[in-house]
Amino acid sequence: MPDKSDKEVIGNYEISKAGLLTRREVLTMGAVAAAGALVAPAFAAAGTPAAPQASAGDPYVAKDFSGLQGKLDGLSASQIEQHLKLYKGYISKANELRGKLKDVELTSANQSYSAIREMLVEQSFAVNGVIYHEFYFGNLGGKGGDPTGDLKAAMEERWGSTGKFNDFLKAAGKSVRGWVVIGFNTRGGFIDSFGLDSHNIGSPANFVPLLVLDVYEHAYMVDYGIDRAKYLDAFMKNVDWDVVGKRFAITRKHPSGLEATT
Ligand SMILES: [Fe+2]
Repeated sequence: MPDKSDKEVIGNYEISKAGLLTRREVLTMGAVAAAGALVAPAFAAAGTPAAPQASAGDPYVAKDFSGLQGKLDGLSASQIEQHLKLYKGYISKANELRGKLKDVELTSANQSYSAIREMLVEQSFAVNGVIYHEFYFGNLGGKGGDPTGDLKAAMEERWGSTGKFNDFLKAAGKSVRGWVVIGFNTRGGFIDSFGLDSHNIGSPANFVPLLVLDVYEHAYMVDYGIDRAKYLDAFMKNVDWDVVGKRFAITRKHPSGLEATT
């Protein structure tokens, strides 16, 4: 077992007390850079709580977000409960696909259809389904309002004001079919935004999510039917800007990955 005495957990992340990412984290991030997601929270080895449905040896372990149920303003316990069931389904499929790819039949490889093709593509769907949901649930549970400190300054630089950012986020939420991701470009060193119509379509590389908004209908149908605008208002009231700010502080120390391409 690794010695974790020199580490601490901030938000969703485990970092060294010296403020630098541990080697395990660097390797973990590098492994998922192409998927455009910081994957450390999904791994049991990263110090996250064990989930009861995980089997021994499974690399993906569901985090416990049940504390959000009944605690959010405008998002019911039932809504969150259903959403968490879906999240755990992605955990299960991510583990299943990773296991099956070890023994997948290779000689039939083909880009139109083959077992390995289907498993590789769907693994990216399942894994990103895990990761984006963890960012999403992780940035809920706050009181909304405005960001503070360096994060606020960076967002004002990008959007002009936090009020304009709120307008932008709501419009973005009405414009895409899956995810709105506000994140940090680790090569450019700036905040930017992306819209994804599916977990694995449009997910940018070298981009670490800071604030993630799920706009799939399953995220709000229980409470709001098809009224996405009301859901977006509810989402804004529950953003935990402290978590987002900690993500920003950590990811600014994130290796860019540029070194590996030169
Ligand atoms: Fe979702």
